[in-house]
Amino acid sequence: MDAVAGTPRNGRVVRVSGPLIEIEGVAELSMLELVAIGPNRISSETVAITGDRAVLQAYEYTGGVTPGDVATGTGDQLVGLLGPGLLGQVFDGLLRPLSSAELWLTPDRASSTQDAATLAREWTFVPAVAVGTALESGDLLGTVPDAGSVEHRVLVPPGVSGELSWLVESAVVHASDVIAQVGGHDVTLAERWPVRRARPFRARATEAVPLHTGQRVLDLIYPLAKGSAAAVPGGFGTGKTLLLQQIAKWSDADVIVYVGCGERGNEMADVLQGLSELVDSRTGGRLIDRTVIIANTSNMPMMAREASIYTGITVAEYYRDMGYDVVVIADSTSRWAEALREFANRNGDLPAEEGYPANLASRLAAFYERAARVTTLGGRTASVTVIGAVSPPGGDMTEPVTTDTQRFVRSLWRLDRDLAYSRHYPAVSWTGSFARDADAIGLWYQAVQHSNWSARRARVISLLAEADRLASLAEIIGATSLPGHERVVLLGGRLLRDGVLMQSALSANDAFCSAEKGAALLDLCLAVIDKCQELIERGVVATSIEQADFGLVLRAKEETGPSDAQGVADRRDEALALLEALS
Ligand SMILES: Nc1ncnc2c1ncn2[C@@H]1O[C@H](COP(=O)(O)OP(=O)(O)OP(=O)(O)O)[C@@H](O)[C@H]1O
Ligand SMILES: [Mg+2]
Repeated sequence: MDAVAGTPRNGRVVRVSGPLIEIEGVAELSMLELVAIGPNRISSETVAITGDRAVLQAYEYTGGVTPGDVATGTGDQLVGLLGPGLLGQVFDGLLRPLSSAELWLTPDRASSTQDAATLAREWTFVPAVAVGTALESGDLLGTVPDAGSVEHRVLVPPGVSGELSWLVESAVVHASDVIAQVGGHDVTLAERWPVRRARPFRARATEAVPLHTGQRVLDLIYPLAKGSAAAVPGGFGTGKTLLLQQIAKWSDADVIVYVGCGERGNEMADVLQGLSELVDSRTGGRLIDRTVIIANTSNMPMMAREASIYTGITVAEYYRDMGYDVVVIADSTSRWAEALREFANRNGDLPAEEGYPANLASRLAAFYERAARVTTLGGRTASVTVIGAVSPPGGDMTEPVTTDTQRFVRSLWRLDRDLAYSRHYPAVSWTGSFARDADAIGLWYQAVQHSNWSARRARVISLLAEADRLASLAEIIGATSLPGHERVVLLGGRLLRDGVLMQSALSANDAFCSAEKGAALLDLCLAVIDKCQELIERGVVATSIEQADFGLVLRAKEETGPSDAQGVADRRDEALALLEALS
């Protein structure tokens, strides 16, 4: 992230308070304009202007900044330089490379003191169109091989169209090199985009297509459509980070943007290491080569957290425009909201609920609403799916970030403390979660896979609810006082919870579950429950059913491979035969 040199206008710093800087005397400053502060040219953004005074939020440490320091208006907004070299790398909240191994050049960064050592990286550009072609925004100009495990497509940028009058031959180029001239515009290999503005697309797609996450409780009960938004609220240590990491590893997206926002640094290291070790089954490469990591951990400057969310989603939209399904993961949006709150308080804004600024809801909406499945300018169907963790203090789900977030997301995966404490992972509550796209996704399953996904889901949800109700009743009157068919429901609830919904992130066979295996596991459980009900009808006593060995059902997920639906189906016949022997 950097500033394009506009006409520099100088003023001076009058007040500094943490990340808040007040300046005066910069002529014609505009909202959201970037201002460089002091000799180190600390980047800061204009958030309020009164006369010739302005309030800025600084994206770097303000240690050493003093009143009187020079403040220079750059004439530019916070922009991300989007080009090859993003995949497989780690960036800070302003999209500056953090990994020391691979260096990624931004043109005027080489001259800035901060990244003077950053070197130009060379790329091979392979042209895909002939000179003379009439091009529109979003049309393909060429590709860059070796820029990650998905093909890097260089497109005509938004707002540019016309005849291609010149295109660089297959050549070695740098991020800032002009590679084409379209309609009289120079097109560079890397593109600058103001991160707070959503990148344009042609139209929203209406059909709901599920994002397959590989986590059964999500895929079978609380699914998320590609291009939708989901939130994962959960108290301390309930498994938010692990669930998001699982989604980063296993979901059927082409590109993952993982934004670590105010969380622990070692968790980012875990993501990096985990993804580096895992093989991407689709490309044969490493999973990290389809991932962009934006790390703004708790020890890094706070306001960059605020920017990192927008940076992440802008990177995602950039890959979306190339035609990919992208998932943005933000852990945690609560830390992001805390940055907003701290700044608002320093600025003396009138606090709303729990000290958060009055515009918290609209800020959250602005983030989640950038999730979309679209037809891009170039006519490709692609999506940005957003998944954010929410860490309510003390697990209080009525606090403002959690309640506001619920309004803007399509799926809510609420993590339950009791489930987590009893080591039922992922601790996604089946009573407090929701999936607004479930009906539409059911139609997709019916049309595309001819499967009765909706009917299965409805049956599981009602069985679980009925089992929960009976369990509380049984606590009062004792399970043995319940009639036989209700005792089978109780047993069925247990089988569904332990045999299907529970899924260990640490198991080789079970960390990922294919859609077919998930469906087979559900069918196995439901068939066993039906069989037990049938036995009750035929006069078998409930106690002898309860004492039967259900190990075959409970261990099926572990003892079959991640995609072995047939293995599960085979167990079903075996399990039914065992039960039949009871009659
Ligand atoms: N799916 C899972 N499989 C196995 N273990 C899990 C799973 N999910 C969570 N755990 C266990 O729970 C622990 C805490 O999980 P995690 O760090 O993801 O919680 P968190 O909600 O992100 O916590 P924090 O509030 O501190 O950010 C993990 O270290 C792990 O032992
Ligand atoms: Mg966490």
